[in-house]
Amino acid sequence: MQRIIILDFGSQTTQLIGRRVRELGTFCEILPYDRYPEDDSDVIGVILSGSPLSVYADDAARPDLSRFLGRLPVLGICYGAQLLSFTLGGRVEPVGTREYGRAGLSFIDPACRLFKGIEAPSQVWMSHGDSITALPEGYRLVASTDSVRFAAFECGNAPVWGVQFHPEVMHTLQGGQLLENFVVGICGSRREWTPDSFVESSVKELRSMLGDDKVVLGLSGGVDSSVAAVLLNRAIGDRLNCIFVNHGLLRKHEFEDVLNDYKDLGLNVKGVDASAEFLSALAGESDPEKKRKIIGGKFVEVFNAEAAKIDGAKWLAQGTIYPDRIESCNITGKVIKSHHNVGGLPKDMKLRLCEPLKWLFKDEVRAVGLSLGMPRHMVFRHPFPGPGLAVRILEDITPEKVRILQDVDDVFMRSLREYGLYDRIWQAGAILLPVRTVGVMGDERTYDHAVVLRAVTSTDAMTADWAELPTDFLRNVSNEIINNVKGVNRVCYDISSKPPATIEWE
Ligand code: XMP
Repeated sequence: MQRIIILDFGSQTTQLIGRRVRELGTFCEILPYDRYPEDDSDVIGVILSGSPLSVYADDAARPDLSRFLGRLPVLGICYGAQLLSFTLGGRVEPVGTREYGRAGLSFIDPACRLFKGIEAPSQVWMSHGDSITALPEGYRLVASTDSVRFAAFECGNAPVWGVQFHPEVMHTLQGGQLLENFVVGICGSRREWTPDSFVESSVKELRSMLGDDKVVLGLSGGVDSSVAAVLLNRAIGDRLNCIFVNHGLLRKHEFEDVLNDYKDLGLNVKGVDASAEFLSALAGESDPEKKRKIIGGKFVEVFNAEAAKIDGAKWLAQGTIYPDRIESCNITGKVIKSHHNVGGLPKDMKLRLCEPLKWLFKDEVRAVGLSLGMPRHMVFRHPFPGPGLAVRILEDITPEKVRILQDVDDVFMRSLREYGLYDRIWQAGAILLPVRTVGVMGDERTYDHAVVLRAVTSTDAMTADWAELPTDFLRNVSNEIINNVKGVNRVCYDISSKPPATIEWE
């Protein structure tokens, strides 16, 4: 299959470039800047990402570009453009103040293929501390803003383009058109990467890889494991054995509801209710990391015991997706995201690993789910942490606290759906605080739990904003919770964004 290679120089928006290319129906791979593939027979173009570095600094990332430059179409974005210019004999210098935010292209060369269909003035988004101040010989200026002369350039006799702005972000209003001009118009993408074609080719590949083998898969109720299961089921039918463990910290009725959904989809699934076992292992533990470890350890124990009952299973399937695997180009030495995974894989695992979604971004997983005929409520379900409500019950966990939080969460989630707000939110849930507060109900003084509602908007959970929910919605949810959930007399709404807060409270 045709692919575009995106060389990552450590920009925060590199994954976004990848998603935009995929939205154009084109497969792409994000690789660290110095790992251009040995075999590039199916590569149709190369994109060089932005970076927090300066091209002229001693420690700058300046890989050898000669493997593809002049032979394949190349688009440099921000640092990528500066790198091209600098490497080929142009000049890049600090601009004094960092140029950040919206700008307008006041000049665009109408003859440039990269800007086909884009006319000045066109809003773009800038984020750079250096600027190109002279182009290499044989290169031409093709776009400028009032303050950035070399906002875009092209080579006169080789398929090379550079843009100082970021076409991948939504504030660059015609960035989608520019990327389409590059990927489709210049690189010649046949746009063959579609959910249907992915399903068709995956089913074929899975059949040939798995033969008559049996596969075990742990379902969590989440989108990724569910789509992986339905895809595998399409490939190998009942030879896929799914296990869905209830650790007692799921949402209210979730175990039964999700199990029924799975059965309706024709999956060969076994539900294992191990709630009592998990809750007794957690009794008295208040430390957030220890709680996570207990749940992770127990999960592996329960799952392995069930998997061992499946005679002759050879493979373990997982819903790992592409962002979990992209080797982040840790260029500034800062780890931005650490990956959560319930329990991880046992070290002595004898099963081989099968990860049918390992090339997909989250939005592609959802599109594949729809293409497989899965119901919308499964495909668009909010993310939910592996340890479930355990990270939302601060301090120790008791069955009574689980009951209270499940009831509160149920009112909140049901109301979000009823008001048509669910799909506008990335993730929502309730948190049970370890404090009691004084209240008054009727003529009685109460001394009950305070709960917090949290709803955030996000695209990848790495950053998140608190969601601006309508006041009358919050009022009604609060009333319903306080009037109906025994043990709660106060409801708060969390207005912290991430960073500096996180989505979960523990
Ligand atoms: P934070 O709280 O780090 O959460 O902003 C980011 C995303 O990760 C989820 N999350 C977890 N998922 N195991 C998981 O499987 C965990 O221990 C865990 N902690 C947080 C969280 O719900 C959000 O979607």
